[in-house]
Amino acid sequence: MDWNAGLYDQQHDFVAAYGENLLGLLPDGLGFAVDLGCGTGALTGPLTARAARVVGIDASPHMIAQARLRLPQVEFLVMDACDMPWSGSVDAIFSNAALHWIEDQERLTATMARVLRPGGLLVCEFGARDNIGRLRAAFAAAFQAALAGEGLGPAYLNSERFYFPSAAEYAALLARHGFSVRLAEEYDRPTPLKGGNDGLASWMGQFFAQDLDCVPPAAQEKIFAAVADALRASLWDGGQWIADYRRLRVVAVKH
Ligand code: BEZ
Repeated sequence: MDWNAGLYDQQHDFVAAYGENLLGLLPDGLGFAVDLGCGTGALTGPLTARAARVVGIDASPHMIAQARLRLPQVEFLVMDACDMPWSGSVDAIFSNAALHWIEDQERLTATMARVLRPGGLLVCEFGARDNIGRLRAAFAAAFQAALAGEGLGPAYLNSERFYFPSAAEYAALLARHGFSVRLAEEYDRPTPLKGGNDGLASWMGQFFAQDLDCVPPAAQEKIFAAVADALRASLWDGGQWIADYRRLRVVAVKH
């Protein structure tokens, strides 16, 4: 899939805003740091204050194009994180709200272990177990109903494929690949969405785009309406939608 990078920056800038205090878990004076899944580069700029060399990588060409416009002096690469080319030369991998998009977590973790030098740091945050649980369940039900309405059978949804592990599960994965886990904590992060009543549809349009692109616009509207109906009692606070985010925050050292 490719991303709507403009919408991401304007409407969903909370993604970077919440990631800012994650940067505080990195030491200053790093040599080489990689911003894995850098998106439009909102946190890559602040990362350059902590490392002599920073490379931002993202699988989305649109995101990287936007990042290059934002920070022309920084090196950005369109790249699958599982294909990072470095070997033992990276001092820190930083990643905010990106790892859950990557399907092959064994390969990704092996790659991160390879690129980091011994003593190198992984500082990351992404969706934890049950992240956007109500949202995903309501979306899946509305989506399957819309398919049935189109005379189509049920589909396997991309939004059911995200990697949202528990802290214990992710710590075990890291340990298998030679990391010592210093911190692995799950927490609830209820997240207000911009845009009032339309905020939920806008959010689905961005984050569930892969699924929505498979149905015609009229069916998409039905899905948005059905999800809003299903969630109004639990996620609407009278003025805005509050998405049921849960995060997993991790600091690990490659040994
Ligand atoms: C998240 O950042 O938690 C997220 C991941 C995938 C879809 C929606 C949200």
